[in-house]
Amino acid sequence: MTPIVRIEGVVAGYGAGDILKGVDLEVERGTVTCLIGPNGAGKSTVLKTVSGLLRPSKGHVYLEDQEIDRLSPKARLLLGIVHVPQERSLFPNMTVLDNLLMGGYAIKDAGLIRKRVAEAMEAFPICRDRTHAHAGSLSGGEQKQVELARTLVLDPKVILLDEPSIGLDPKSRGLVFASITQLAATGRTVVLVEQNARSGLAVADQGAVLESGRVRLRASGRELLDDPEVARLYLGGHSVPQS
Ligand SMILES: Nc1ncnc2c1ncn2[C@@H]1O[C@H](COP(=O)(O)OP(=O)(O)OP(=O)(O)O)[C@@H](O)[C@H]1O
Ligand SMILES: [Mg+2]
Repeated sequence: MTPIVRIEGVVAGYGAGDILKGVDLEVERGTVTCLIGPNGAGKSTVLKTVSGLLRPSKGHVYLEDQEIDRLSPKARLLLGIVHVPQERSLFPNMTVLDNLLMGGYAIKDAGLIRKRVAEAMEAFPICRDRTHAHAGSLSGGEQKQVELARTLVLDPKVILLDEPSIGLDPKSRGLVFASITQLAATGRTVVLVEQNARSGLAVADQGAVLESGRVRLRASGRELLDDPEVARLYLGGHSVPQS
């Protein structure tokens, strides 16, 4: 099966030396892949080379066999790649509804935007409950739900999520991870970066450990969780037996 996303020999950085030093990664359609690794390893940078915020100096990124690494972020958005950054990204002074409508800014067909917004509200009930509230008045966890809902307005193939659970209380975190599972169940492909590596790997089909700009380890989420060496180095302690 052709992977939906293929990253091949990607070298990239921000001017002062390479951060990614030859990253190879394949992501299968309809799966969740979780990238873990120490701070500064280049996890967010990998997502940026896929969404187009950063162009690799070497190597290539493919979406379903199409080379996309020279395309603009907007062109990649229209091909179905959305990126939810680590920072909060809603417009705080706009309502939840207006934020969702903004999610469709790259789409010309207003009817289609309305239809997709309705579907997104269906999938994320918080959007229905708080339709007319200012996004900035929602809790961090609620805002993250709205951010995830907003991605659906583009009917994305690939959703790149950078630290979606950061700063959230345990209940909101649980909701976010449940939403991620649900996104994959509806055929979307999710690439997730997580500091809460245990929770991230637990919802992931595939995991990858990034270190010093290279993929060091590649295995299923479960295998990485069960690997004592991974647990010691990246999960802050011992592996947890399978329940
Ligand atoms: N816009 C930028 N300009 C210059 N350097 C940057 C920029 N963004 C990231 N870097 C540097 O690139 C390296 C990798 O950063 P990146 O954000 O990809 O790491 P990360 O694995 O996501 O880390 P974290 O777990 O802390 O989020 C770091 O040394 C960082 O300082
Ligand atoms: Mg990061």
